[in-house]
Amino acid sequence: MKIGILSDIHVDINFTDKDVVTPAICRNIKKNSMDMVIIAGDVASDYKLILASLGEIEKQTNIPCLYVPGNHDIWIENYPEKTSWEIYELLKSYPHNLANGSYEINKDWVVIGDLGWYDFSFGDSKYSFNDFSNMKYEERIWQDSIKAVWGETPLDMHKYFINKLEKQLIKYKARNVIIITHVLPIQNFTVQPPSPMWEYMNAFLGSSEYGELILKYPNVKYAITGHVHYRKQIKINNTEFICNCLGYRSEWHENDDAEIEVNKAMMTIDLIDRD
Ligand SMILES: [Fe+2]
Repeated sequence: MKIGILSDIHVDINFTDKDVVTPAICRNIKKNSMDMVIIAGDVASDYKLILASLGEIEKQTNIPCLYVPGNHDIWIENYPEKTSWEIYELLKSYPHNLANGSYEINKDWVVIGDLGWYDFSFGDSKYSFNDFSNMKYEERIWQDSIKAVWGETPLDMHKYFINKLEKQLIKYKARNVIIITHVLPIQNFTVQPPSPMWEYMNAFLGSSEYGELILKYPNVKYAITGHVHYRKQIKINNTEFICNCLGYRSEWHENDDAEIEVNKAMMTIDLIDRD
């Protein structure tokens, strides 16, 4: 069982005269004979484009493309009449959106996941909870504070997602689990060492509570994440934590070709190794 892993493909930001990322992903999947692919959020800040991109991947490759929404994916900037909840619900029309529920690979393996949110636990403790609630560092505004319109506090959103994930972890205690959150579950994947700005902004990258929850369940073999545009891996106890982002064209280190970068960025895991 060969599974491709990629996050933060940002097909809108990486657009040239057309979407060049989705076709590159399809070709990579076919070339590597993958059985499944996981996209850990941030496909685009336009739900119609997201549904088109994910649908195209499944149509072209004939394999399941499992997905969790990212924070960009629920932004309202292109649909100001909608709330983020409405966009989150519209994204559920994609059958392999894990916000709909788990995906059972076979009797041994199950995949669960969702967006997740943040509780400021990764921010530097020299700032107060109220400081983080402003979501603004000098002149830089964390865009979720404008574009993610949940009508709930960040902490309440974090609680919503962690409760949903915990229920699934309890349900699947007897299986090997792959868990996907767009936001970060461990501090190792935050911006380190942080600049003064990131001492503040790390607060919006995830929550240590996801990592603590995951590590209570040794049957979680993989914890896959995105959001921070790094490509990193670290094993803690029984769990391989993977953050594997394509990121923005401007971050591709002198490379402007989506095909080259997708081929560099795509990683694979083989479940046979871990049975
Ligand atoms: Fe992103």
